[in-house]
Amino acid sequence: MEAAIQSKKEIPRSAEKMDSELSKLGNNLVTKFHVLMRISQIYDSKNVALQQFIQESLHAINTFVQREGSIRLKIVGDDIFLNEQRLRYSVEGFTSFKYLLTQWKKRLIGEVLYKGALDEDALREFIYILMALEDGKEENATLFNETLKERHLSSIEVGPLEVSEKEEGAYTLEKENSREVGKKVFFETIGTVKEVITQIKGKQHADVRKLKRLVRKAVHLIMEDESILLGMTTIKNYDEYTFNHSVNVAIYSMAMGRRLGFSRGVLSELGITAMLHDIGKSKIPLEVLNKPAALTDEEWGQMKKHPLTGVEIVLNLKQLGEVNPKMVVGIFDHHLKNDLSGYPKLFHKKRVSLFGRIIQVADAYDAMTTPRIYKKVPLTPEQALAVMLQDRDVYFDSILLKMFIGLVGVHPLGSLVLLDTHEMGIVFKPNTDPQWIERPHVVLVDRDRRGRGKKELIDLTERNGGGRFKRSIVKTLDPNKYHVDIAKYFL
Ligand SMILES: [Fe+2]
Ligand SMILES: [Fe+2]
Repeated sequence: MEAAIQSKKEIPRSAEKMDSELSKLGNNLVTKFHVLMRISQIYDSKNVALQQFIQESLHAINTFVQREGSIRLKIVGDDIFLNEQRLRYSVEGFTSFKYLLTQWKKRLIGEVLYKGALDEDALREFIYILMALEDGKEENATLFNETLKERHLSSIEVGPLEVSEKEEGAYTLEKENSREVGKKVFFETIGTVKEVITQIKGKQHADVRKLKRLVRKAVHLIMEDESILLGMTTIKNYDEYTFNHSVNVAIYSMAMGRRLGFSRGVLSELGITAMLHDIGKSKIPLEVLNKPAALTDEEWGQMKKHPLTGVEIVLNLKQLGEVNPKMVVGIFDHHLKNDLSGYPKLFHKKRVSLFGRIIQVADAYDAMTTPRIYKKVPLTPEQALAVMLQDRDVYFDSILLKMFIGLVGVHPLGSLVLLDTHEMGIVFKPNTDPQWIERPHVVLVDRDRRGRGKKELIDLTERNGGGRFKRSIVKTLDPNKYHVDIAKYFL
């Protein structure tokens, strides 16, 4: 099989040297493939509706070919490599990554090589031959290459999917690397929350079964090691605020629930409740939700209805199973505040439910630390915790708040910090001893002489011979300024 691609034995898995421009081009390519593959399922290859998408994709492909000489997209495990560098998932790109992986894997195609610039016909033919392949047929890559040859498309070659031993046989959560699972669960949950909210907005039937499944996986991960998902909450996505916010609030809430000793079942209920806490906002017009200026009284009135609207929506979600009062009340309560000075206004005084109190803390923290349209520079985690502590008895359950501070730490996971030794560190794990919340475990990020990042895990409570701390945090740094890729340490 001469046409098969000579694959290199070693593919460097590190994304260390991946420059961000290349990464952007790569993400763009994957998105374009995703769109083309989907469209080819709707229209036949001659349809004019394809034209625009083909042109856009050609532009992306040929720009890349011009720059790098060729394009090699290869699947290794659950990763996509572009010219031997691993492409990292992004929140926006995750669906496209997944689609490409599933579609290629299904057809046992693991690699595509473009040896030069393509023209419209070549790209069109390529997509339609690919999508017409039978699922699971061993000879697909050979057949594909033969067809390409027959049609004189010599600048394209494909290779078969290489199935590693790990992938063969049943593949359970335990066998996969937890961090990888965490990443997938996180991005998939954001995508699913988005789907549910879009369905509710469009008055369609909302399917929450997938969300329930994902929450169960998240609970499993939180029980195993809470720092994995907590680390993901540091990815603040400005454009996808509502979805990202819902998932973050759920992660914080579940981590608190775990510390309160909740069972898996109750943790799942709490997770779903937190995930849907702002679902009532899907009925508020976007102009009001994203209004950069102060809201009018009428707009505030609309805003204040969202807990109640949320309850109505949740009561109508069929697949939620038996609707648990804890979940409904949790959504109703999440803006009541500890002294009941929040909203909705109550006719009879009651104590804010435990779910409500937990979500209130998680919600306030995430909202304050995330950039918004009307507040582009968010509070730093330290500032947010300080504000919350100031109003602790009015707004929050002070015991839960204390617990939350222990959870995220004064220096939350993923913060880039300057140490008094002039080293830089990334906060990796909070200190489990509450008296040392200011002294988390950090990973040092300064470079050795060869320019490689050191990955030494340091406990900041370590002292030297004289009893003084070896290292202390001086201040938090902006990771963008120092070109430190924080996600690399968590993803
Ligand atoms: Fe809310
Ligand atoms: Fe919220």
